[in-house]
Amino acid sequence: MTKESEERLGKLIGRVSLFSELSEKQRKNVAKSGVERSFDAGHAIVREGETGVGFYLILDGNVEVRKKRKILSTLSAGDFFGEMGLIDDQPRSADVVATTPTSTLCISQWTFAGIVKGNPDIAMGMMKVLAERLRKSNKALSE
Ligand code: CMP
Repeated sequence: MTKESEERLGKLIGRVSLFSELSEKQRKNVAKSGVERSFDAGHAIVREGETGVGFYLILDGNVEVRKKRKILSTLSAGDFFGEMGLIDDQPRSADVVATTPTSTLCISQWTFAGIVKGNPDIAMGMMKVLAERLRKSNKALSE
């Protein structure tokens, strides 16, 4: 990765609330350890049932989280997905499909574990998002 893209990605990562507490150096390290991947609209980035090895941070664009053609959630720049399979080592729980051209920073399971273990703020931030998603699902189920 070039120095310029490292800096550009570091800045984008700074706008992601999950990583906002990281120092500039830590953000650059996250940028360095990830791979930027772009997808066309309609592309299934993650498929339900597959074994996943990546955590995705959305840098630009929109995705839908779908299960049996039902839309569970819409995510956009600054959001993340793919964490569940990496946390509990289970197959992907849903499809995640780009609905616009979407660029992501893809972080491997190994790097993801290191970042989360080394930064309690990130672990707390992620737990907060997981709780929000569970609340939303519970609400939808009870309606
Ligand atoms: P994972 O199971 O690895 O792959 C599918 C991803 O979709 C999952 O991780 C979460 O990141 C995301 N996901 C699953 N269910 C929901 C939901 N109810 N709301 C938002 N995102 C979800």
